[in-house]
Amino acid sequence: MGQERGRVALGIAGVGTVGRGVLELLLVQKETLSKKAGVALEIVRVVDRDAEQKLSGLSNLGGLDVSSNLEDLLKPDVDIVIELIGGTQAAKDLIFGSLEKKKSVVTANKALLSSLGREIFELAQKQGVGLGLEASVGGGIPLIEVIRNNLVANRLDGLYGILNGTSNFILEAMTQKRIPFEQALAEAGAKGYAEADPTLDISGKDTAHKLCVLLGVALDFWPGLGAVYTEGIERVAELDIAYGADLGMVIKLLAIVKRVGRSIECRVHPVMVPERHLLAHVNGAFNALYLDLSCTGPLLFFGQGAGRYPTASAVVADTVAIAGGLARGVYALRPPGSLDGEPSLTSVPMEEIETEYYLRYMVSDVPGMVGKIATALGNHGVSISQVIQKERNEGGERVPVVLLTHKTKERCLKAALKEIYSLGDVLGEPPQVIRIERFAS
Ligand code: HSE
Repeated sequence: MGQERGRVALGIAGVGTVGRGVLELLLVQKETLSKKAGVALEIVRVVDRDAEQKLSGLSNLGGLDVSSNLEDLLKPDVDIVIELIGGTQAAKDLIFGSLEKKKSVVTANKALLSSLGREIFELAQKQGVGLGLEASVGGGIPLIEVIRNNLVANRLDGLYGILNGTSNFILEAMTQKRIPFEQALAEAGAKGYAEADPTLDISGKDTAHKLCVLLGVALDFWPGLGAVYTEGIERVAELDIAYGADLGMVIKLLAIVKRVGRSIECRVHPVMVPERHLLAHVNGAFNALYLDLSCTGPLLFFGQGAGRYPTASAVVADTVAIAGGLARGVYALRPPGSLDGEPSLTSVPMEEIETEYYLRYMVSDVPGMVGKIATALGNHGVSISQVIQKERNEGGERVPVVLLTHKTKERCLKAALKEIYSLGDVLGEPPQVIRIERFAS
């Protein structure tokens, strides 16, 4: 193996945005990174369908082997496989194949980890090899290793994450410039923030993938995407942003975890956040993770959650840490669950969560409408804290009616909305429903 020859041999799969950044950093900083690792780091192979073209412009490639066959990374001369191809099937084969052959793995693949993280951890532990996931959540922000190492004295009580830069950029552009969703999405695309398929970003799915990785790492709880209630930002309208501002709130797409005994609330959806809260000030394509922990109290991490060099920074850090451990023969992968995971954790069904709500109906401006809505809410035990109807239109066009509720169970709210729906078309399109979060600390 490489380390017996006084070096650790690296193989890289994928020379896209992040892969190219990793290559550059490992080549340009070869000497200093080797010094930091305590062992010579050498890239022996790069695999990409389009490698020749993607490697153009890179100097000091040395004797690097270039291939388009992922299986070449399973050859005995590679110690650490750096998986940056994304997607699921080929990446899955590569990661499991590498671990089976006792190679350490560094990956940024949040989609794969969200569904197979537990199995990947178990196999890496069984094989006694390294596993680096830092780049899978929050790009350049050190989150995974901090959770796994520096916070082990804590129990996780709450987690609130802005984990998708594209969505955050869109919501902020809508807020600052008062532009519609489609225009803000186009701006995000032009700036290169969005995934190849931007529906992953705006549907909340990318955030849910990252939430699943965090749940796995922190609590050894692997609910899978299906158990994480996920709602995107597609329906957030300029009107809601404007009402939010009047109410002293900002709309953010949040990943939320709350521990309720042995049950875990885990969900992703737009949230109205008080303007005074730190998360309300995370702007542009930045990410942030706010943790509520038993010893430290609240902690906030902030930085660039995507992009070539921020994400490459995380990949390189994992690679250097694992290489150093391998070379010294002391690498041992600690199990997940650093923030007090318990084997019997279950997720709270969405119907059972309790929160405050912002509701916006577009109603015909006829007497009694607000009363009918309020009565239906009351019939299901949903208590109203505020009603706003600013506009008047006797000409027949619909006007917004906004209601805020006190804390209520989602199940009761849904039942009330169903009753309101049965009142007929004087209520127009389905209401806008945005949950409000006031934070425990
Ligand atoms: N498209 C993602 C984002 C970046 O907008 O945050 C990588 O996860």
